[in-house]
Amino acid sequence: MVNATRSPAERLVEPANPLGIGRTDLAARFVVRAAIQAPSIHNTQPWRFVDRSDGLELWADRARLLPVADPAGREMLISCGAALFNMRLAVRRLGFTPQVRLLPDPAYPDLLARVAWGARTAPRPYEELLHRTIPRRHAHRGRFLATPLPPMLPIVLAGIARHEGAGLRVVKDEAERRRLAEHVQAAEAAQLRDPRILGELLSWTAPPDDGRADGFAAGPSPAEVDGFPSRTAAADAPWEAEHGAGGREPERGTAPGAVGTVAVLTTREDRRVDWLIAGQALQHVLLHAATLSVSAAFHTQPLELPYLRAAIRRDLVCGHPQMVLRLGHVARRMPSRRRPVADVLSGE
Ligand SMILES: Cc1cc2nc3c(=O)[nH]c(=O)nc-3n(C[C@H](O)[C@H](O)[C@H](O)COP(=O)(O)O)c2cc1C
Repeated sequence: MVNATRSPAERLVEPANPLGIGRTDLAARFVVRAAIQAPSIHNTQPWRFVDRSDGLELWADRARLLPVADPAGREMLISCGAALFNMRLAVRRLGFTPQVRLLPDPAYPDLLARVAWGARTAPRPYEELLHRTIPRRHAHRGRFLATPLPPMLPIVLAGIARHEGAGLRVVKDEAERRRLAEHVQAAEAAQLRDPRILGELLSWTAPPDDGRADGFAAGPSPAEVDGFPSRTAAADAPWEAEHGAGGREPERGTAPGAVGTVAVLTTREDRRVDWLIAGQALQHVLLHAATLSVSAAFHTQPLELPYLRAAIRRDLVCGHPQMVLRLGHVARRMPSRRRPVADVLSGE
């Protein structure tokens, strides 16, 4: 018999297990396990989750904000938006229709979303596919293989971004792409000269074997690809010399200049709610691409400097730029660290 006084999540797994882990816990853990696999700026994983009787809350974890690179929390909220998209997928996978309210309580600005379980509806095969793909998506750095993208993919991804309320401006024009690359180079150079930015980056960089569950594993930075430098995560880190090239293997089978398809994720406005929309659109785009074994590399350095962000917007005649991406095929995907679910999920 279904007990109508209990939430759908509580009714989901019968009966409660003997370890005392409640039914809501199991569903909540399932959803949060999906959420935490989202990409995040410097792998800060700036989120926490609260399990309520009627659903889950997503909160920003301000202690993980990058105060120098991201003072307004734009990239923190994009990261949390990506986690929110995974929550939506996991709720669908459990057979519910998530009811999402963004920024539901102005008194608590760090409460980013309430996700109620909603009505029961079986997941569609596409949603199951995206959910299955969550653990297979990893951020790439460096060159792509010479294999071209499926020809229609950029158009499909732009449609997906639009469906999520954002935009994806594919940068096909050679001159536009070169100009965008110059902005990335200018930002990288400016940030390398800024000891506060470098300090922040290094505080999220640790030796590969130190057991830390967040941040980057230090290793040599990949070579610049067609003018798009990667973030210099481990430059001058004391352990780099010690580990040498062991951090990241050189990529084989790549063509020189395999920059991939360059695109900029945009939003119409630039409020906190737009950053959450951008994050959800980002993750939907990334997961759809990953179903076709297409990975993304990110170059968000110029968006952290207001004058370069404005220049990109002007050059591309687009909405507010939120992410700079390259898309392509990779030889090997590199998984990154995650904190365990128990560290980020609490109950009522
Ligand atoms: C808002 C945002 C900005 C990012 N900016 C960069 C970047 O500039 N360079 C880069 O190499 N990765 C960037 N990333 C990717 C993260 O470094 C990556 O998601 C994180 O290390 C976790 O790895 P994973 O995505 O493979 O799980 C960004 C991710 C997000 C969400």
